[in-house]
Order: sequence, then structure tokens, then C-alpha cells
Amino acid sequence: MEPVIPDLRSVPRDEAYAQLLSIQQLVLGDSHDIIAGMATTSALLHHAFGHLWTGFYRVVEPDHLLRVGPYQGSLGCQDIVFGRGVCGTAAAEARTVIVPDVHAFPGHITCDARSRSEIVVPVFDATGALLAVLDIDSAVPHAFGEADQRGLESLVAWFRRTTYVLTPA
Ligand code: SME
Repeated sequence: MEPVIPDLRSVPRDEAYAQLLSIQQLVLGDSHDIIAGMATTSALLHHAFGHLWTGFYRVVEPDHLLRVGPYQGSLGCQDIVFGRGVCGTAAAEARTVIVPDVHAFPGHITCDARSRSEIVVPVFDATGALLAVLDIDSAVPHAFGEADQRGLESLVAWFRRTTYVLTPA
């Protein structure tokens, strides 16, 4: 039986991410499977914090195109071009982007009208290639800060053990 995902909404963020990191290590064990890693990490974050949307946009054309999945939540947009929206900006610039108010972000792509704030974290493989971005959307404004960036970057460090394999576009 798999562990139950704890409700971490009222736990201090650094402590919450430390708990998720240990469950992620436990569940994934010595797996090197990128899809298993993305599905597991999405499920942990989504259910622990009750986000609106939690998941990955994979690089399907290097330096050009991202495609949705795996994820948890309402329907996400299928494809995002590098440089567009929050996900495309994080991918093009290979850096974490925190958006406290999506209405104030020029070019924000609205997949779910309830989304008010978001964080997008780049995901790299063993060679340092950009594999994907991790996108989390919240119905609450100003939901993400530095502790989230630290915690999410530590969770996506799991993918440093994987090798980028291009999914046909
Ligand atoms: N809000 C994102 C698009 C992805 S969805 O919200 C799932 C963006 O602007 O990149």
C-alpha cells in the first residue's frame, strides 16, 4: 500500500516540503522513470496543498514548444510556446517565475478563470538539459513565495537522475 498524502495546508512551508521530499523518495525509490516522477510529484503537491492545478509541461521541441502532462486538476492548455505566458517565460529563461497576481502578468495564459497566482519551476535532467517546467496554479492571490521556490526546486532535483528523451511533437 502507498502512503496517504498528508494535508499540509497549515504546516510551515519548509517543513511541509521536507515531508513531501521524504515521501517522494520513499515512493519513487530508485526509479529513473520520468513519467512516474512527474505523476508522483504532481499528486503529492496537489493533494498536500489543495492547489487548483499542479503539473508539468514537457519540452517536446527544444527551445520551442511545451506540452501538457502529467498533471492533476482541471484541464490545462495543451501546448505552450517558449516565451509565452508564465510557463513559456520560465522555460525560455530557465528560471523559477513567481506570479503573485496573474492579472498583472502580461501575456498570462488563462486555462482556468479561477487561477489568481502561480509559480513555475524549470526541471533539468542529468546533463542539465531542460526537461519540463513544473507549473502550480492557485485560486488564492499571493499564494507562493521563497519557501515554495526552495521546496519545489528541491523536489524537481529528483529529475537530475533522469535522462532527457524527446517525446515526438
Ligand atoms: N497559467 C499558465 C498556463 C498553464 S495553465 O494555467 C495550466 C501560463 O501562463 O503559463
